[in-house]
Amino acid sequence: MNIIEMRSVYRDKLDLSIDECDFIYKIILKELCNIDPIEIALDPTFNLSSKSEKTLLQSMNMIIDDYPVDYLINKKNFYGKDFYVDESVLIPRPETEELVDWVINDNIDINDQKNVIDLCSGSGCIGISLDINNKYLNVTLSDVSTNALKVCEINKENLNSNVKIIELDLNLITGSDKEYDIIISNPPYISLDELNQIGKNVKYEPEIALFTPKDKPLHFYEKILEFASTNLSKNGVIYLEINPKFILEFNQLLTNYSINHINFKDDFRCKKRLVKLTF
Ligand SMILES: C[S@@+](CC[C@H](N)C(=O)[O-])C[C@H]1O[C@@H](n2cnc3c(N)ncnc32)[C@H](O)[C@@H]1O
Repeated sequence: MNIIEMRSVYRDKLDLSIDECDFIYKIILKELCNIDPIEIALDPTFNLSSKSEKTLLQSMNMIIDDYPVDYLINKKNFYGKDFYVDESVLIPRPETEELVDWVINDNIDINDQKNVIDLCSGSGCIGISLDINNKYLNVTLSDVSTNALKVCEINKENLNSNVKIIELDLNLITGSDKEYDIIISNPPYISLDELNQIGKNVKYEPEIALFTPKDKPLHFYEKILEFASTNLSKNGVIYLEINPKFILEFNQLLTNYSINHINFKDDFRCKKRLVKLTF
């Protein structure tokens, strides 16, 4: 089969617009077959090897079955850098980039080191982005999943980052020396009641990264605030991604803590999804 014939197969089989099919086709050509997509224009009769043909068809069938392209190519761009991703971590989302941006902008003028911990770090996208964009931020990544921590190690290495990586289970909180000036987290925040409302695209993502325990939509926020009570420095700041569906309950939870300022921020979809707590 030649390169144009295979493009037609993608256009026929994928339930997407022509532009979306072509976009995905070019990514698979480049990332998995090592073929420059410019060949489509330069040499439309370019014959695909049987190996490339097989890879392209297999990938297409996985995409038909909602398998994320980012897992197929083991790559997701986040805050301007390509992060390695696989099925052991959540695929970083664009709204999380806005959380990172908030911390970067708040700390643009600092001249002293600040200790930062990224709780529930997954791929490490939040903490590594902070580390490589501000030399004054001393960042620790932490997660309960050992497979996620392996992905953090890969990204640390690939992106020449200096982050520290530790295993930390938020259900078994330790630490009491108030060493962190900033806590940042995008914890699991989908409640099991929302199962039937979430997209097919998350079906390959790890459940541990998505869901809260049954009937406890704020479980991880309670744990983060508990962690903060013994680990956050005086005048420390917490940045969180939250579930816009539970804003009322979240506000209620905050009344149990003495917080100086609570700033909510809308994400680019105009949903109240980001919050900064100043103590
Ligand atoms: C929503 S993902 C966020 C990943 C990454 N921070 C991001 O924004 O893409 C949540 C992460 O929380 C971790 N996690 C789940 N339960 C945990 C626990 N008890 N303690 C610490 N981390 C936990 C999961 O392994 C997963 O990596």
